[in-house]
Amino acid sequence: MAKVKITETVLRDAHQSLLATRLTTDEMLPIVEKLDQVGYHSLEMWGGATFDACLRFLNEDPWERLRKIRKAVKNTKLQMLLRGQNLLGYKHYADDVVSEFVKKSIYNGIDIIRIFDALNDTRNLETAVRVTLQEGGHAQCAISYTISPVHNIPYYVAKAKEMEEMGASSICIKDMSGIITPYAAYELVKELKSVCKVPIQLHSHYTSGIASMAYLKAIEAGVDVVDTAISPFALGTSQPATEPLVAAIQNTEYDTGIDLSRLNEITEYFKPIKDKYIENGLISPKVLGVDVNTLVYQIPGGMLSNLISQLKQQNKEDQLEKVMAEVPKVREDLGYPPLVTPMSQMVGTQAVLNVIMGERYKMVPKEIKDYVRGQYGMPITPIADEIKKKIIGNEESITVRPADLIPPQLNSARLGIKEYIEQEEDVLSYALFPQIALNFFKDRWSQKYKIESTLYNEENKNHPI
Ligand code: CO
Repeated sequence: MAKVKITETVLRDAHQSLLATRLTTDEMLPIVEKLDQVGYHSLEMWGGATFDACLRFLNEDPWERLRKIRKAVKNTKLQMLLRGQNLLGYKHYADDVVSEFVKKSIYNGIDIIRIFDALNDTRNLETAVRVTLQEGGHAQCAISYTISPVHNIPYYVAKAKEMEEMGASSICIKDMSGIITPYAAYELVKELKSVCKVPIQLHSHYTSGIASMAYLKAIEAGVDVVDTAISPFALGTSQPATEPLVAAIQNTEYDTGIDLSRLNEITEYFKPIKDKYIENGLISPKVLGVDVNTLVYQIPGGMLSNLISQLKQQNKEDQLEKVMAEVPKVREDLGYPPLVTPMSQMVGTQAVLNVIMGERYKMVPKEIKDYVRGQYGMPITPIADEIKKKIIGNEESITVRPADLIPPQLNSARLGIKEYIEQEEDVLSYALFPQIALNFFKDRWSQKYKIESTLYNEENKNHPI
């Protein structure tokens, strides 16, 4: 019986995609026990941008969120997203940081870690996968899905096999742009199911309007798990909605076994929260519709809005067409990187610079230079010598695993915040986001100090502090 399982994304990807990751722990906690009773395969609730947003915007400790949710969720597996050697940041970290981060994530309650690399360079997954397995976690390796002349079924199959050999507990097709078509999904899942022993999961976004059709075809091809979001936080740039998918395959051989009436309580809970965020403007009605540009240009919706705002800042909005035409060219020059964080931002910025400078690669950001130097990993096709020369001159690119060149970072991070450490996890928050973590710690410290100093003043009115 090919029962289909569901990963519910409302606590992570759904609000990251629709409202810039701003759901608070207090908004999640009243419903997590209900979510736990549904019978989901897993609840995605951590990683991606949640960590950064907690510290930067919500003045929350992300570790505390994880512990609180873990305490309430007793049956369902908790899942997180990890950008391989980039962890939850935007650059490579040393192995000691990656290893400690994975250990602490599992220790604090994560069961499944979905690990991906923007370039599908599996060397960047090695440390995270190894430590996840050592710690008794489920290491899901995700293949960043993209469309290009070189990203074909044999390529994806080879990647999946490589991941399985590394010890992946399952494989995810990560379609971050929402561009996988129903028949492409069918063919890819069918092929992966025939060569892989581990379960196959599909993750997509509704951005272009095709994701739920792709899910259905993937289900027919034998996919084991799909990612959906409860309807108030589904569709648009988020995932396909949970309830219609559950209903669509009810009483078939794929039946999820999930009770629709159980889901209804969760839907009702999230409706007013969504309304609140629409009213205060955090959810823009624009992200809720179908974005056909994604299909035409095969770039993620978020990237398109970034390009528009970059051009606006330069008063060059009229150049959008040219930039859109430049994006695939830059991508080709750079060996067809999938357009996922951080590559989507890097390729987009370079395309904007190439157009507004009036000369290609006249100005190149440091990140693109580092990429061409091999510091992000290996692109699927080699970068042509003439492009390399334009970007880094006669410098040699590295060919080793990029993290082999990064010395340990944990001790210096510990020293950097030693007066603020309240838990070992603070060292990791600081290693990942030094400035915003420090602000958070200072604030946490002064809150405490304020309370203590009030007590002190009450009792010892005549002693100045
Ligand atoms: Co996603």
